[in-house]
Parts: sequence; structure tokens; C-alpha cells
Amino acid sequence: MSNQILEKEIPETKAISLSDDAFFSELRKKEYSRIDKNSEVYLDFTGGNIYPESLIKKHHDFLLKNVFGNPHSINPTSKRSSEFIAETRQKVLDFFNAKDYICVFTQNATNALRIVGESYPFNENTEYILLSDNHNSVNGIREFCKNKGGAVTYVPVQYHDLQINEPLLKKLLTEHSKNKKVLFSFPAQSNVTGVKHDLKWVAYAKNLGCDVILDAAAFVPTSRLDLSEIQPDFIPISFYKIFGYPTGLGCLLIHKDSFQELKKPWFAGGTVSLVSVNAQDHFLTNTHERFEDGTLNYLDIPAIKNGLEFIESIGMDKISKRVHTIVELLAHKLSKMTHSNGKPLLKIFGPEDFSKRGGNMIMSFYDINGNTFQTELIEERASLKNISIRTGCFCNPGVDEINSCITTEELSGYFTSHSDGNYHDMVSFIGKMRGSVRVSVGFITNENDIEKFCGFVSEFKDKDASEFN
Ligand SMILES: Cc1ncc(COP(=O)(O)O)c(C=O)c1O
Repeated sequence: MSNQILEKEIPETKAISLSDDAFFSELRKKEYSRIDKNSEVYLDFTGGNIYPESLIKKHHDFLLKNVFGNPHSINPTSKRSSEFIAETRQKVLDFFNAKDYICVFTQNATNALRIVGESYPFNENTEYILLSDNHNSVNGIREFCKNKGGAVTYVPVQYHDLQINEPLLKKLLTEHSKNKKVLFSFPAQSNVTGVKHDLKWVAYAKNLGCDVILDAAAFVPTSRLDLSEIQPDFIPISFYKIFGYPTGLGCLLIHKDSFQELKKPWFAGGTVSLVSVNAQDHFLTNTHERFEDGTLNYLDIPAIKNGLEFIESIGMDKISKRVHTIVELLAHKLSKMTHSNGKPLLKIFGPEDFSKRGGNMIMSFYDINGNTFQTELIEERASLKNISIRTGCFCNPGVDEINSCITTEELSGYFTSHSDGNYHDMVSFIGKMRGSVRVSVGFITNENDIEKFCGFVSEFKDKDASEFN
């Protein structure tokens, strides 16, 4: 099984120097020294960010100094928890300039998406339109839609640059929204390719009467999201991706005009203003509480405020600029790496214009004959060097199906001939290599990390993939 390089390599770019290097190297020393002490090369920032030391200390001091009780009551410890939750909720809204939104705390972005999926009024006259470049937590909403008789339409990203096919998307949104109520979903930044899809699609779809989910989970860690400027209906976010700690907390931002559109299919503790057992009736609350099932994570929620303040102390524009420079530098160095016969060691997929990308990129490694190395091999070898990268499909099969040229017939052939299965089994059934290597950088990634990764890549120079079988 081998894939030959099909396309031209990314062109060389001008020499790049890191912006604000002194500031970020001080920050790394002060807040993240354990990375270097442990000789880690962390290049999985899209998987999760790394927490700064001060965030842990601040939050632990806060916990050690105060007594907190379960919210939803008026006793002193309960009130204290409620006050900190309210303060944090306001901070989240302020951070995203989201005065027209309601902030629902969730476990993570996935749980936020589930709330939309299970509550959206799908029926025979609705359609879920989504890009093929979406995380599985967005893809999964199609099951809620289909189960209620709705239609599902995927809009493929383009093979050559993995960006939106604009004429096709325009056509589908315009035609399909004429007769049906459309829920449209796309990621502000691909969790796979790092492509920042144009946010103009929010207004475009809204003007056609569609509702819009903007999956901002991979975008907000390194880009400013100003919800006074663009106004999607639903935005899922995971906080650990922005500042590393705490895990297990995210939010769903719901536009105030769309709140009543979501029809919660059940009630639970904390979500109701009144319930009767004998009358078997209930009233849901009219605020964020409606979607916050059970007891909130009241001990960790206040740490979100600290995390957002930490990010503000650096500045999102500075973070974006830094990440952009690092990604460009990395791509520039990688693009120059070749085998002795001049063939490239790897290919980075996606647009050549790096201004359209965030901090993550995917690539394939090629041997001296132009055959692809297995992605698992790359991750295993990188792990031996303490380099954390990720391989596979990254919970986003749509991009990989396009990038690896896997046909619908091949995919359907696997599903219809199996009652159960998995990724590896499918790969051997189809007989085509798939998956890629993802490298994602953060604002504390430095030149040393990049050098170490390039040093690792150079170990494949002049190698034949068959030597590794
Ligand atoms: C774009 C995108 N959406 C959704 C998710 C799901 O986030 P979580 O696993 O935190 O729920 C991720 C996770 O990587 C993501 O990158």
C-alpha cells in the first residue's frame, strides 16, 4: 500500500524570524519550565493547550482559602459558589464580546454540540448542511436530524487546497434554504488542516434564513472571536484548548434570539422552575440553567476566569501573530527538506497562503522513492524522541476521505459488508493508505521545538519505507 506524491510541494517562503521572541521565551521560563525540564517537545496544541503554573497556583489558593457549597441554594457557601459562577459566566461573555448571547456551561465542546443536536427542532422539513471538514462531534448531530426525518447534506472541501468550494456552498445553501429550514455547521478553524474557513459564511447563511453552528473549538485558542461582529446562533467551545486548565469544562454560546428555538427533550435537576409528579408537568427555566443538567462543576468554573485573564494579559492579537509566525517558520523549514535525490521528505496539505491557517497543519512523510510512510510509524518514532504529535484522522474523517482519495463506493462497501469495524480494519479492507501526521503549535512553541522536529524528520532522509515493515 503506498501513495505517491500527487501534487507540487509548497513553495519556499522568505526567511522568517520569530515575533516577540524575548517576551515568549521569558513566559516559557516563568510559566512552562517543566516542558524543558522534562525534555518534552509538545506539538499537540490542538489536542489540548498546556496550563501555565500560575493558573494552578492561583486556583489552588482560591480553593484552599474558601468554603464552597453546592449552588442552587441561598445558604452562604452555596451563594458563594453561585456568585463565582455568575462572575465567570460574565467574563466568558465579555471575552467574546458576546452581549447578545447566553453562556451555558458544559463539559466540553462535544457536550455543547449535543445540546444543539438533541434540542434543535429537526423534522421532515429541516436539513442539516455541513462541511465535510468537521469534527465528529459536529458530524454526529446528523443522527439527531436523520432520526427525526430531516435531510443531511455534506459540502465537500476542495481536494487541491482543502478549503471551501465557494460556488458549491453558495448554491447548496441558497437552493436548499428555499424550501427547508436549514441548520448549517462549519468550523471556524479546521482541527485537522488548520484552515481558517471564512467567517463571512455566518452572515451569508443567516441572510438566507439558516441557523448556524460555528464550531470555534480549534479557532479560539489562537484567534480573536468577536461576537459583536459575527453572530452565529450556536458556538461550542472547550476551555482546556485555550489555556490548558481546567479540563472537563466548555460552554455553548447561544444567541439570545435562538434560545427559544432549542426544544430541550427532557428536564433534569437544575433545569426547571417547577415540576409536578402527579400532574406530570414541568416548566423549564428561561435562562442558561435550562441546559445545565444537574450540579455544575462549581469548584473548577471559577478557574476559567483566571484562564481568560491570563490570555488577556498576553493579548489575543499577540498570540495570533506569534502562532502564525511559528507555523510559517516550521512550514518554511520543512519545505526545504529533501532526500539526496531531490524528492521531498514530506508534503504539507492545505492552502499555500499561510494567512489562511491557524496553528495546526497536516502532512505526509515520503521515502526516497516517493512512497508514503505509515503514519503510525511516524508517531511511534516521534514518541521515542519525546515529541508529542498526533496521527490518524483526528476525529474528522471527512477531510481524510477527500485527502486520501477514498471513494464513497469504497467506504460504503466496507460498511455494508460489516456489522462492526474500525479504522485499521477499514484501511486494510480498502487497501489504500489513509490518515496523516498533525503538528500543532502554540504561543509558547519556540525555535528549539521546531529544530527538534525538523531533526526528527531528517532521520527519514534517504530511507526506504519497506525497511520499516
Ligand atoms: C474543531 C473541534 N470541534 C470539536 C472538538 C471536540 O472538543 P472536545 O473533545 O473538547 O469536546 C474538537 C476537539 O479537538 C475540535 O478541534
